[in-house]
Amino acid sequence: MATQTLHFKNRTIKGVIEVPGDKSISHRSIMFGAIANGKTRVRNFLRGQDCLSTWDCFQKLGVSITDQNQYLLIEGKGLDGLKEPTHILDVGNSGTTSRLLLGILAGRPFHSVLIGDESIAKRPMSRVTAPLRLMGAKIDGRMNGEYTPISIRGGELSSIQYQIPVASAQVKSSLLFAAMQASGVTELVEKGDTRDHTERMIQYFGGKLDKNGLTIRIEGSAELEGRDLVVPGDISSAAFFIAAAILSPNSELLIKNVGLNETRTGMITVLEKMGANIEIIPHSTDSFEPYGDILVRSSKLQGVEIGGDVIPKLIDEIPIIALLATQAEGRTTIKNAEELKVKETNRIDTVANELNKLGCQITPTNDGLLIDGVSKLSGGIVNSHGDHRIGMMLAIASLISEKSVHVQGTDAIDVSFPNFFQQLTSIMH
Ligand code: S3P
Repeated sequence: MATQTLHFKNRTIKGVIEVPGDKSISHRSIMFGAIANGKTRVRNFLRGQDCLSTWDCFQKLGVSITDQNQYLLIEGKGLDGLKEPTHILDVGNSGTTSRLLLGILAGRPFHSVLIGDESIAKRPMSRVTAPLRLMGAKIDGRMNGEYTPISIRGGELSSIQYQIPVASAQVKSSLLFAAMQASGVTELVEKGDTRDHTERMIQYFGGKLDKNGLTIRIEGSAELEGRDLVVPGDISSAAFFIAAAILSPNSELLIKNVGLNETRTGMITVLEKMGANIEIIPHSTDSFEPYGDILVRSSKLQGVEIGGDVIPKLIDEIPIIALLATQAEGRTTIKNAEELKVKETNRIDTVANELNKLGCQITPTNDGLLIDGVSKLSGGIVNSHGDHRIGMMLAIASLISEKSVHVQGTDAIDVSFPNFFQQLTSIMH
């Protein structure tokens, strides 16, 4: 387990940077390229461990995916081009790979086995295995398909009408992949608005769906065509540098070409309410995903209430928002965020426990966090618990800590942001 000793108090953050490609879109670009007919070229693909797991799984399913340096070339032969794997499909640490892959495999007439790491083994899978069984897939697994290892034998699927009980883009996407292979029209009703990358990509690759509020209708027997695409920068990675600039004195940072999909920008909305000095410069584009630049400067923040519909739009940013809230005047309340308990770690516990070790005042609740500011951070020994976003948040905490912060388990950061420390030090002055 790698440990980094960090002492960056009172540094200034300045510069112009780009963050690596979006993780959600990178996963999906391989998946869509693999099931489409013809060549897909993906530029700015995120070479983080999670997306490499997706790459590896689709190679095991017989898809040719080659690194052409400037782009990834995926030679799709349609859904029927996927072959029964000889080996177990290892999703590593990636929830997105596991759930979306199950939706694709549900309609394939062969057998596969999925495993992942220790964190994946604790993450609930019945949210996808239960509705996929309703559609006709044969699935077994530990605790009756709640946890990995999971085995799946796909085949003919029937369409369903289904209310998704959790606001989860992974569940929605998994069911959309299955629905594209089913007979008839599937109707899904979401519990809340979640990231819509899958819907956008279905349309971009030539498929059809109909979206009305929280209801999505999609026809089966879809035929998709390979496409070229550029993955925008990941706003969930940019979030750590946005926080770094806000928290550091005399700072001004321009982050270029970041994905600005409205289902992902909840943190910007919240930061504006907290009083952050942040400007969004959208690019006018006909890309399948909106993107633009983010200009952010040192800011004084106010505590706010965060809950309701915005939660799915910032769910992955809550650890870093919590750190920012420790430096805001007054109390910040985060509620309706019980999904945090089933992320790479139980993020309600890991955020509160690790930041409190540094001197913060955070009370975990059943569905969120109560954060009292302004806290003085002392420094100390903290641990990512193998969770990439906890590791990066704790590294940023070293910018406001009096003494050194020893972050254990920084290797987890490779999951979504392989050059995190190089980029962070490049903007510190
Ligand atoms: C993701 C959806 C979200 C998010 C995860 C990526 C996706 O998970 O937290 O990091 O790519 O669809 P849930 O669907 O579990 O909310």
